[in-house]
Amino acid sequence: MLYIGIDLGTSAVKLLMMDEQGTIRKIVSREYPIYFPNPGWSEQNPEDWFDASMDGLKELVEWSGDEQIGGISFGGQMHGLVILDEEDRVIRPAILWNDGRTGEETDYLNQVIGKETLSACTANIAFAGFTAPKLLWVKKNEPDNFKRISKIMLPKDYLAYRLTGVHTTDPSDASGMLLFDVKNRCWSDDMLRICGIRKEQMPKVMESYEIIGTLKSEIREKLGITYSVKVAAGAGDNAAAAVGTGTVGEGKCNLSLGTSGTIFISSRTFQVDSHNALHAFAHADGYYHLMGCMLSAASCNKWWMDGILETKEYQKEQDKIKKLGENQVYFLPYLMGERSPHNDPAARGTFIGMTMDTTREEMTQAVLEGVAFALRDSLEVARSLGIKVTSSKICGGGAKSSLWKQMIANILNVRLDIVACEEGPSYGGAILAAVGCGEYASVEEASEKIVKVIDTVEPEECLVKKYEEKYQKFRQIYPKVKELFPIIAG
Ligand code: XUL
Repeated sequence: MLYIGIDLGTSAVKLLMMDEQGTIRKIVSREYPIYFPNPGWSEQNPEDWFDASMDGLKELVEWSGDEQIGGISFGGQMHGLVILDEEDRVIRPAILWNDGRTGEETDYLNQVIGKETLSACTANIAFAGFTAPKLLWVKKNEPDNFKRISKIMLPKDYLAYRLTGVHTTDPSDASGMLLFDVKNRCWSDDMLRICGIRKEQMPKVMESYEIIGTLKSEIREKLGITYSVKVAAGAGDNAAAAVGTGTVGEGKCNLSLGTSGTIFISSRTFQVDSHNALHAFAHADGYYHLMGCMLSAASCNKWWMDGILETKEYQKEQDKIKKLGENQVYFLPYLMGERSPHNDPAARGTFIGMTMDTTREEMTQAVLEGVAFALRDSLEVARSLGIKVTSSKICGGGAKSSLWKQMIANILNVRLDIVACEEGPSYGGAILAAVGCGEYASVEEASEKIVKVIDTVEPEECLVKKYEEKYQKFRQIYPKVKELFPIIAG
């Protein structure tokens, strides 16, 4: 039997097909545009997600021939606001997780409603990319659109709706809306009231591995499928990636280097970061996790390579970097503002420390190191809570670079366990589908049996020491320049 995981990402959808043992059969992907209609805004067209996913599914179905597809599930970009009218038509373009337009609404929630109330209701405070501030933004700036809302969906849940006809979400993704009581895994009545939302407007919550329905017959016809295919709820992309790297159960860690960069720590018990710098979210295995999320990770390198250096030769540029731990140039990777731990939508990318003899390689190195230092910022918050992280898995596009992995192992001082499949969310999505269809008794069992560690990257004593000094300098830069960002933006 075959299982498909759909990773509905920010730049593309990736679809992975595996068999019941977790052997990957085929991976396809389709890109779609992202729109930045104003500085700091970020939108996508949900119809593009559907078209791209259908196109990818068609390729997989054709490729699979006579072998049957048992189930499909998802890992999806989190927090995005998709609003539907009474006839389930999309009202306006989706406002994405890295959109920073909701500064006022975030301040209102954190300061007027108050961080204590938010944290008591949802286990989290407001961040600009979360869904609730976006709803308040639509209410204030597009009141006619707000009145027309019949259903509020997250990106992967909208895709699941188009494939099955049911409106559902799962606890891991719902956690990022700031409308969800994470501890009790249900909608928070108080938060819905604060945001002027009725419960009927919210999708039904199902666990990530539960079957929400089957592919609609018109979808099966378009794909050329003659049998029934089950669909499981799926998870937010970080929880799905954690499943795909075996980061389930107690005290495991995964780093994701995608458009965003995250540090994800799984836990069997519910816990909240008392400073709310890390998100306290539900996990796709039925338990919980803490997560720090930086808004621009591998996307900083892409911006620097494609946009500024105008090259596609990422490897060639990195091959020229020889001296680790000695760079005098620093880079703050806040190209879309920053979430964890600064919660500052006004923050911007910054190079500092150049001299007349600074080279192209040092600037490239500063970009890669800046992302790793910023990940360490979130790790330090976890360490301050008494959480010991000595090893981690890693996934996402950035994890393809061995140089970047070496920098991360040394800057974070953690051993990186390299898994055979670094696809993350799409692999996790396929595993959730297999669990939903009864191939495994639990997500933990599936993940343990399927995910294999094939290599490790150890921190090196001398580099750890050098990078420790560098990190102590890096962490002083943001507090000193942060006042300037709003001034520069005018
Ligand atoms: C997590 C977050 C990002 C997106 C990226 O809180 O905002 O990791 O899920 O797709």
